[in-house]
Amino acid sequence: MADGKAGTETARAAPVPHFHVTSFDLGHGPVEPDPAVMQSGHVSVASYVDHERFEKEAALFGTVWLNIADESDVAKPGDWIVRPVACRNVSVLITRGADGVVRAFHNICTHRGMQLLWEESGNGSRFTCPYHAWTFGSDGALRSVPDQDCFPGLDKDASALRPIHLGIWEGFIYINLAPQPAQTLEAFVAPLAGRFQDLPIKHFSRQATMGARIKCNWKLLLEAQSESYHIRALHARTVSSMMSYSGNPFCHPLYWEALGPHRSWSTSINPQFELSDARPVQQFAFTASAQIITTANPLEDTDSAVNGFRGSEPIDRGDPALWAADNMIVFPHVQINAGANGCWMHRFWPISENETDWQARYYYYEPVSLRQEFAQHYATAFNRDTLVEDNNACTRQQNSMKSGAIDHIQFGMQEMACRHSAAVVKTAIDQLHSLPLA
Ligand code: FES
Ligand SMILES: [Fe+2]
Repeated sequence: MADGKAGTETARAAPVPHFHVTSFDLGHGPVEPDPAVMQSGHVSVASYVDHERFEKEAALFGTVWLNIADESDVAKPGDWIVRPVACRNVSVLITRGADGVVRAFHNICTHRGMQLLWEESGNGSRFTCPYHAWTFGSDGALRSVPDQDCFPGLDKDASALRPIHLGIWEGFIYINLAPQPAQTLEAFVAPLAGRFQDLPIKHFSRQATMGARIKCNWKLLLEAQSESYHIRALHARTVSSMMSYSGNPFCHPLYWEALGPHRSWSTSINPQFELSDARPVQQFAFTASAQIITTANPLEDTDSAVNGFRGSEPIDRGDPALWAADNMIVFPHVQINAGANGCWMHRFWPISENETDWQARYYYYEPVSLRQEFAQHYATAFNRDTLVEDNNACTRQQNSMKSGAIDHIQFGMQEMACRHSAAVVKTAIDQLHSLPLA
């Protein structure tokens, strides 16, 4: 910062809370997050820039459950979506059949391997391959083959779409690309029990999405959303004044914990934040309407049915007036945040060691006034501006890391969630690498 305040102020209201670490189990037996990373906070630069390391992480994405979509993306019978898992070279077709069942398949035609669906979403009960018009049902069955007499002995059952393991939990669709997943989805999400059941996402009917291909490693983006240490410096022009104040200048979390391979924490707010005359548009948007992370100003015209969330039980965050949002990282690549007036989430899809597809989604209640609707658009745009600051910084971070000038980075006590993220990934790929080949 030009004024140097971010680097010189040492006052803080409370110590950084203890970060509770537990073992985790991805189906291959319980293991500990890498102890050296957890204790020292040192993480090798190679883990962000090395191609071999990336290939190991990509292999991990082929074995664990992946939060890939919202169940509402296929809300009605016949709805279908296509989602790439690029680091596995897989295109996933997710359908909701006439029977209401949600299924996942590889988006590949069993005739000659053509990409079956070229669009990202639609509604229909049959999928016709663009190449020679083989047609499949939403249950994956091969329904028809033009000029079938030219395929004597065709085994239509064996020519069905190739299924992918799928499960639904708390409104999100998870897939597992392994032929035989090492654990059930229930076992995978078990450490998150109680952290999602009260989330108001299901009450939020309004959604906004954004995303981009970011030229940096996926873990850098995840880490940027895993600590508030950078708020005061990097976000001095955006969200800093809403979170940093004299009582907690460096935005220490109110609470955090490891939840198996996942983790959760509660971010704090500036209870003294006041809308500024210098920002009349923000002032107009947020006066008597929704601020996604701010509970300090009373909301006068919001729906009380969805405006009651103050964090998942049974976490004790201390003074509720300081609570901004609960943040859940669902291993390996998804972060879901829940505030009083909205939720937002990120999916960080690895592309290469130097590239990530970032997808963000925002959830709001149905506005009951134009002012509320404007506030939601403003909140999304304001959050986007903040994320542009993150993403731009991470791109520069990736580039500078590639110089080779330093061989490790160091996470401090306020970056324990980053330590945990790095430690879990390291242990997970080491464990996966040590398994006998199937
Ligand atoms: S490749 Fe699909 S019908 Fe030929
Ligand atoms: Fe940030």
